Amino acid sequence: MRAVDIIIKKREKEQLTAQEIDFFVQGFTNGDIPDYQASSFAMAVLLNGMTNFETTDLTLSMARSGQVLDLSKIVDVVVDKHSSGGVGDKTSISVMPMVAACGLPVGKMSGRGLGFSGGTLDKLESIPGYRVDLTTDEFKAQLKEKGIVLTGQSLDLAPADGKMYALRDVTGTVPSMPLIASSIMCKKIAAGATAIVLDVKVGMGAFMQTLEEGRELAELMVDIGRLAGRKTVALLSDMNQPLGSAVGNALEMIEAIEALRGKAPSDYMEHILHVTAHVLLLGGRVNTLEEGRAMAQRSIEDGSALDKLRLLVSAQGGDVSYVDDTSKFERAKLVEVVKAPRGGFVSQVHARIVGEASVALGAGRAKKGDPIDYAVGFLILKKVGDVVQEGEPLCEIHANDAEKLKEAHAAILASYQFSNEPVPPLPLFYE
Ligand code: URA
Repeated sequence: MRAVDIIIKKREKEQLTAQEIDFFVQGFTNGDIPDYQASSFAMAVLLNGMTNFETTDLTLSMARSGQVLDLSKIVDVVVDKHSSGGVGDKTSISVMPMVAACGLPVGKMSGRGLGFSGGTLDKLESIPGYRVDLTTDEFKAQLKEKGIVLTGQSLDLAPADGKMYALRDVTGTVPSMPLIASSIMCKKIAAGATAIVLDVKVGMGAFMQTLEEGRELAELMVDIGRLAGRKTVALLSDMNQPLGSAVGNALEMIEAIEALRGKAPSDYMEHILHVTAHVLLLGGRVNTLEEGRAMAQRSIEDGSALDKLRLLVSAQGGDVSYVDDTSKFERAKLVEVVKAPRGGFVSQVHARIVGEASVALGAGRAKKGDPIDYAVGFLILKKVGDVVQEGEPLCEIHANDAEKLKEAHAAILASYQFSNEPVPPLPLFYE
């Protein structure tokens, strides 16, 4: 078998066999197939798609590119939640400690920033010392002792996705249903989660722009999860505007931590309570969503969720004092307020424009392995439905470069639209 023949077959819109997919995935993982062939393969899949059979084979092959953990000897249930990617989406950083505080073990493998969407690992690394490269043995030991793990693809867990994810980020091959579904689900399967809540983002700042596409991705991932013997559900949530206020790594970490003190924007608080309630329900900790929500709320009020985050950060080598004092996070040198050019009701804060502007400020990568600037980003102060007066602050820009600051200012103005008529707030969840 030759890699080039598999690429050509996909270019010609033919269906690949499980053996061909496995040959490609394992060859890429062990270095026999170079990055340029893997990029070309990813582009062929993006352009020509895959059948659900091919996507399932791709997922299972990527999961098997390293170890597939069986955690049943360590804990009865391991829950996980994963987002399909969005702007200002720091949900996992708040939800996972809440779930662990409510008594369910959490073992999660996250990803880095991808295109215009941020990544949990990059956000966590804004805490000095935080390790996202746990070995399998470390993953298991921490899950057993602390009941919470939040790490990245290690050399031995879904390494194919680690390599492919970094390539997709810089080769224009992110927004592909089979590549997203397999990337998310191979991590969940490899890390041994038994109950998985998928948060599928829909809208201008998501890879799935319409509800129909979001639904298709959600159904595909739920099918793959169930086929692999995992309890899996999916929520469809809004990503037309950024979630919460903060966009950018350290700024988002601060917001996610403050949420565990009950001090975050109301849309973000509502979002994390709802997602946590679903995880608690699927994991069998509660019998109804209402019960789950009340339990989630208590974990914030009694400080147990914040304690779990402290435990997580210290277990993975991070400086816990950042959780106790968020003013320690690296700050940008330049902070500028964008003022409303007119009065009215906010009718749009285009999430993709904001996400791309934050990458341009340095919060994301232009090419594989680029360093990122943790401090830069935005605080979105006005959201869809809010009333503004001319000259009122819409957004704070945090930048480390005057030229980039200027470009970001223009981008933020372009992301906002206003109406003379009242505009209803956007829903947080669709289904
Ligand atoms: N999250 C992932 O882990 N992979 C993707 O491809 C998109 C979002």
